[in-house]
Amino acid sequence: MSLSRVENPCFLLFLAVFQAIFILILYRGGASSVFRGFLDAPQPWDYSKTQDVYTNLSWFTRAPNEETMPYCTAHSPIFVGPLTITFNAFPSEKMITKKNPFVQFGGSYSPPHCLARYKSAIIIPHKNQEKSLRHLLYYLHPFLQRQQLHYGIYLIQQAGNATFNRAKLLNIGVREAMKDEDWDCLLLHDVDLIPENDYNLYVCDEYYPKHMASAIDKFQYSLPYWSFFGGVSALTPDHYMKINGFPNTYWGARGEDDDIAARIQLAGMKIVRTPVHLGRYKMVDLEQHAGSEEHPRRPAPLHNTRKTWKDDGMNSVEFKLLSRKKHLLYTNITVDIGDAPTLPPEDKDRV
Ligand SMILES: *[C@@H]1O[C@H](CO)[C@@H](O)[C@H](O)[C@H]1NC(C)=O
Ligand SMILES: *[C@@H]1O[C@H](CO)[C@@H](O)[C@H](O)[C@H]1NC(C)=O
Ligand SMILES: *[C@@H]1O[C@H](CO)[C@@H](O)[C@H](O)[C@H]1NC(C)=O
Repeated sequence: MSLSRVENPCFLLFLAVFQAIFILILYRGGASSVFRGFLDAPQPWDYSKTQDVYTNLSWFTRAPNEETMPYCTAHSPIFVGPLTITFNAFPSEKMITKKNPFVQFGGSYSPPHCLARYKSAIIIPHKNQEKSLRHLLYYLHPFLQRQQLHYGIYLIQQAGNATFNRAKLLNIGVREAMKDEDWDCLLLHDVDLIPENDYNLYVCDEYYPKHMASAIDKFQYSLPYWSFFGGVSALTPDHYMKINGFPNTYWGARGEDDDIAARIQLAGMKIVRTPVHLGRYKMVDLEQHAGSEEHPRRPAPLHNTRKTWKDDGMNSVEFKLLSRKKHLLYTNITVDIGDAPTLPPEDKDRV
């Protein structure tokens, strides 16, 4: 740096301001959060160089003796980073089943070669999206196996003709999944989002609800709005109960994000996000999605969450369980969740 630059008053002022900002960050977030920020700084992932999601998965073979099986390594030996995702071919159920020989009836899996350190339930709200579902299963099963997780995939199918109610289906999914097992983490997963990097771990943050789909291709790999909590998120059962689950009263349009963000705050928590270089997703590109490319606007909140959250959620979810069936690659829980209440006309445009 030249002497004249240092003496330049503008430059000195710039330095002073810069230092003040740095001290402010340290003061507000604590040193650890600053350093965590540095560690999370974008990795040099090259998304133009991708690997098949099934690469080296056949390394994982059954251990000779289950009793002496070691714990899985914390870092999976077969991670590759960016994955090749295309929707050109339509995978058959038979083919997916053949490529995933260790998946059990009902869509659950435990690593055959080691004891899993972590149990994750994947909960997918669903209504007439069979094509997207097939693509998701083709990618998600090997993706989760790469991470050496014990997992189960639950499809929560909304029966009838009523408008889709994603948040209510998720409440039901959490309740039904916890009947099977004491899951460590609940992954609330849209059917049409495929993760692009196998380092994007499907495990929960210990302290806070985690939003995982922070960069979706259809939204130019950026957040559509700050309270966005859609797509894929991960909460421990404890987080989920602390916020009384999700609101049951949002039908159709995705108005529930602000409500959920408010619940998290009211319960004394905050949202953490997977960094954008890692939380990358491709949206299944089918005709039915034509026209969804535009950036979604943040929908107007419907309710005063502060008043409603303790009465509307897990403790008030009502539904009729129509069937619970184990398919080859998932458990299909079909429910009747009733109809959206008919609104007075002046409220119609808000839903
Ligand atoms: C897969 O395994 C082979 C054999 O050990 C190894 O050489 C190769 O690097 C692995 N591929 C990837 C993408 O990690
Ligand atoms: C759903 O809509 C279809 C076609 O409009 C109709 O035939 C069917 O009876 C409806 N089902 C219910 C449960 O209302
Ligand atoms: C789930 O089960 C319901 C009821 O048996 C059935 O109508 C539906 O097709 C199933 N969906 C899938 C994707 O398996």
